[in-house]
Amino acid sequence: MSEARERLIKKREEALLGGGQKRIDAQHAKGKLTARERLEILLDENTFQEIGAFVTHRSSDFGMEKQKMLGDGVVTGYGKINGKTVYVFSQDFTVFGGSLSETHAEKICKIMDLAMQNGAPVIGLNDSGGARIQEGVVSLGGYADIFYRNVQASGVVPQISAIMGPCAGGAVYSPALTDFIYMVENTSYMFVTGPNVVKTVTNEDVTSEELGGASVHGSKSGVAHFTEANEVMCLNNIRRLFDYIPSNCEEKPNKSTYVIADESRVALQNIIPDNPNQPYDIKEVIENVVDSDSFYEVHKNYAENIVVGFAKLAGRSIGIVANQPSHLAGVLDVHSSQKGARFVRFCDSFNIPLLVFEDVPGFLPGTDQEWNAIITNGAKLLYAFSEATVPRITVITRKAYGGAYDVMNSKHIGADMNFAWPSAEIAVMGAKGAAEIIFKKEIDSAADRQLAWKEKETEYSTIFANPYRAAERGFVDEVILPEETRSRLISAFDMLENKVVNMPKKKHGNIPL
Ligand code: HXC
Repeated sequence: MSEARERLIKKREEALLGGGQKRIDAQHAKGKLTARERLEILLDENTFQEIGAFVTHRSSDFGMEKQKMLGDGVVTGYGKINGKTVYVFSQDFTVFGGSLSETHAEKICKIMDLAMQNGAPVIGLNDSGGARIQEGVVSLGGYADIFYRNVQASGVVPQISAIMGPCAGGAVYSPALTDFIYMVENTSYMFVTGPNVVKTVTNEDVTSEELGGASVHGSKSGVAHFTEANEVMCLNNIRRLFDYIPSNCEEKPNKSTYVIADESRVALQNIIPDNPNQPYDIKEVIENVVDSDSFYEVHKNYAENIVVGFAKLAGRSIGIVANQPSHLAGVLDVHSSQKGARFVRFCDSFNIPLLVFEDVPGFLPGTDQEWNAIITNGAKLLYAFSEATVPRITVITRKAYGGAYDVMNSKHIGADMNFAWPSAEIAVMGAKGAAEIIFKKEIDSAADRQLAWKEKETEYSTIFANPYRAAERGFVDEVILPEETRSRLISAFDMLENKVVNMPKKKHGNIPL
């Protein structure tokens, strides 16, 4: 072997070892995979091509010139998922704790630029101690270079972040700017300021896990869209996401082959209870309407009064937004409005048609909601639906009350087709409350107040607690039997396949943030 070839082969071997076998063993001992092992699971077999394996840092402070490790703490390149190109970076905790140096940032920026030029998604596997402390402001500049690119890429190519170790300080803002964040339970955390600073400033005692672990961000803050039991599940579920989404904003999502057969679904007949105040699980409706086992829920444990996720309908990717009557009666509040709005905007950015299941008694009343700006946050959902130009269909399964009727993808704000089940109640409010307001005098002067109230409630309910007033006006296009829903939706999305909407010329809208 020539000396030159031997030199290259040796350097490659050195690069593969990152921070060395001892640190790799320490990584494994924590129950974590290395940066390269993660890429092997994430990508189709033997498709990863590395870029920049021999990059080293340029720092010479604190004796750093004597400590150079090939790759400088991040493995970057491209590969395939389901045969389609994706760009990837995977931080290597065995090299300076995966901390971000000037050159580490340059490597990430290089693959982000390539992804933008070539219209392919970027997936970042984060496992880092944050800014390379020995490099000071140069490292902070590197973060900002990445943030800037995250924003430029937003809505152009999908950006996915997995948090597989520490992610603290300003470093959290790159994942936060991406479309979806996956976190791994017990081995990952995200926070702007760690437990020590929290103790000093607020005197709170809190662990990293309590402050910013996967379960906290998956349920309380909503920062994480997916929480996974371990790294392998996390990487496999990122692969799953790519079954539903296209590579860029100019592509449509893949359509799997599907042969239409008998699409009636009798099980849907028995889900809505006779008593309109009794809850039921909207996920049962979803599961019975979409292709089997295709529902992939996003934000599963956060703001559970609204359900969002991807699914396939006769092989076509769709995004689903559904009120959940079994949680807070499916009411819209601050968090559910934000959750819904963010998902609607992702789907609209990447040409994924929207299907809404509506059963909503209104917006949640109370000081907590008003003081936390339910006005601004509810407006986010209204704005997101109103600006969405993808095919949009609503199925009203039961309640469509008040402002929430307008907000939940009504025809008035641009939905293409609205269906209602016979159990639908489309009104300004529930019959009991309505009767009390508009028949107050009659009820108060009646000999038997309760009886009078009940009569008026029935009167209001007969007129409005049904879908026919809305259907007379064309606000509902068709009243359908539940078992007909799947076939009607398959046909309607097919009919809307070539939808084009011309929006007024503007720089960008001003969504109420
Ligand atoms: C340089 C770092 C580093 C960093 C860790 N290392 N963080 N080197 N810069 N930020 C190195 C360690 O020196 C050590 O090197 C190796 O990585 C592993 O670190 P350990 O501490 O041994 O690991 P562990 O016990 O698992 O603890 C991990 C950790 C801790 C919790 C991440 O290392 C830590 O607190 N690091 C500092 C975090 C931090 O304050 N970062 C700056 C945040 S501010 P050896 O040679 O021993 O293997 C920030 C601003 C971003 O990031 C702003 C963007 C706008």
